[in-house]
Amino acid sequence: MTDHRRFPPTGPDAAPPRRGKRASLIERAGGSDDWRRLVAPPVDAPPAEPVAVAPVAEAGVPVSFAAPAFDTAALPAARDFGAVASAPRFDGLPAGQTFRGTFHLIDRKHLREQGLIEPEGPVTALLEEFRIIKRQLLLTAADSQAGRAARHGERILVCSALPGEGKTFCSVNLALSLAAEKDTEVLLVDADFAKPSVLSTLGLPGGPGLLDALADPRVAVEDCILGTDIPGLFVLPAGNASGADTELLASARTVQVLDRLTANTRGRIVIFDSSPVLAASPASALALHVGQAVVVVRADMTSEAALRDAVGLLSGCEDIKLLLNAAHFSPSGRRFGTYYGYKE
Ligand SMILES: Nc1ncnc2c1ncn2[C@@H]1O[C@H](COP(=O)(O)OP(=O)(O)OP(=O)(O)O)[C@@H](O)[C@H]1O
Ligand SMILES: [Mg+2]
Repeated sequence: MTDHRRFPPTGPDAAPPRRGKRASLIERAGGSDDWRRLVAPPVDAPPAEPVAVAPVAEAGVPVSFAAPAFDTAALPAARDFGAVASAPRFDGLPAGQTFRGTFHLIDRKHLREQGLIEPEGPVTALLEEFRIIKRQLLLTAADSQAGRAARHGERILVCSALPGEGKTFCSVNLALSLAAEKDTEVLLVDADFAKPSVLSTLGLPGGPGLLDALADPRVAVEDCILGTDIPGLFVLPAGNASGADTELLASARTVQVLDRLTANTRGRIVIFDSSPVLAASPASALALHVGQAVVVVRADMTSEAALRDAVGLLSGCEDIKLLLNAAHFSPSGRRFGTYYGYKE
């Protein structure tokens, strides 16, 4: 995932502008080909073994997306969602699967101002990057449903080692990108209970959410889910934090509540925008309930030690993928956007 801020990178790595034409977001990297710097070594620490980012790029997986546990060669050719084409969509409301929350319009301008994917908008480099990322996740979800990958591959935890690495940015963009799929609908869960920001990012009103449904059996999680005018996009607020969030997530009721989010459906993806793994415990508790975890690694910010520590705490999840965020270069030279006439 390249840096999509509207200002160019600064510092020694800033790329010189190309003559005559502005450099692309990735080209602004400055021509560095040292991928190890994606995961900065800890200060004053001896260089550690690199994490599995480079091998993925060499294997042809998108540079910004590392899937160390994903062996594409081992997968059968058919990787579709199976019955997804005939699976009931939200408007079909399959039995026991009715979302009953309120419906809201999403302000496209608000999305645009935050540099997020704009539904119905032009093809951009950002859109292209998330198209590639979601494809990897959908493949694993399909494999999971076919019994070829860990259970609950349709539940995706988005987390990071430390605060501010781009979890919400990536979760929301991923949700917007997945919602655009013809045969998939997405439920974006605000699971950063200490600092929920999905609702404000999407411009949605607050209300009861996951924690309320976990804490009180009288609260049906279906009633808390917000519908949006973006086809296929639904949002579950965090709800009211109690101080016992991690214990709630570890309770038996969590299994029941999460099962209700996807019961009787085959084309629904649930994305959890969670808290930093090294700063709060809910992410590692949630890792036990998901089939995929995407660890956002902020280029030039996340230390390798922090990343290793975080991945260790997510051991409850069998399939951990790394998403390199805000990179200023592409070691392979991959560059999106210009093919579709995207202009910065
Ligand atoms: N690839 C990117 N391009 C442009 N801006 C980005 C990118 N990734 C993150 N940002 C911006 O960086 C800021 C921090 O990102 P975000 O809020 O998603 O991080 P976070 O990991 O969710 O933080 P927290 O731990 O506080 O929840 C936001 O303003 C976001 O828009
Ligand atoms: Mg966040």
